[in-house]
Amino acid sequence: MDQEKTKVWAHRGASGYAPENTLDAFQKAVEMGADGIELDVQMTKDGELVVIHDETIDRVSNGKGWVKDYTYEELKKFNFNKTHLEYTKEEIPTLEQVYRLIKPTNLTINVEIKTGIVFYPGIEERVLELTERLGMKERVIYSSFNHYTIRKIKELDPQAKTGMLYEDGIIDAVDYACDVVKADALHPAGYNVFYPGFLERCRERKRLLHVWTINEEKHMRMLCEAGVDALITNYPDIAKKIRDEY
Ligand code: G3P
Ligand code: CA
Repeated sequence: MDQEKTKVWAHRGASGYAPENTLDAFQKAVEMGADGIELDVQMTKDGELVVIHDETIDRVSNGKGWVKDYTYEELKKFNFNKTHLEYTKEEIPTLEQVYRLIKPTNLTINVEIKTGIVFYPGIEERVLELTERLGMKERVIYSSFNHYTIRKIKELDPQAKTGMLYEDGIIDAVDYACDVVKADALHPAGYNVFYPGFLERCRERKRLLHVWTINEEKHMRMLCEAGVDALITNYPDIAKKIRDEY
């Protein structure tokens, strides 16, 4: 962890206020003064990188089925406003659209690559190519629960910044895995931070700590006090206000 104040990254955009992973949610994060955004990337049948959390479109749209089974043109026809019905129409964004929206700002983009049970061959190469083409290399940090993907990103581009996402792990195992995949940061679920000895070990090993998903004010306070490098939240406005108290 460095000496700077905790950064606030908007989880799936300002998803407490607008449909998650949409251009409106990312625009809101900018307006709320977030330091960064977090988003999830999956790939369509025709190889387009699209921003959506689940492997299927059921939970967030008026459609059904796997992202991998639709072309981008087909996906565009569905309405992705389902998590906030006060928004009348939301298209699924491409990663390129989000990069173009965020490029004129100074926000960091945490691109989570969703290589899960659906494995998208070549997704790492495609994401890196897009980031390079749009001149966003300095602005992006890649993360994934799939540590194969994190290691591959680093192998393809040793300059790319990476964060190892995980849900739960004892310090020695996490440390070992982080070295193996050569990640620049740890992205743990919030409660890991308070395991005895965890913060000390991260300081010793100079591991950046980006912690998710912190939506309660009392937890935001705890993490700002602990001095983590970034907290990832659905409510960037609230987190920012709390962070500024420290
Ligand atoms: O990147 C942090 C967080 O987004 C990981 O969990 O399920 O919200 O993608 P999830
Ligand atoms: Ca995510």
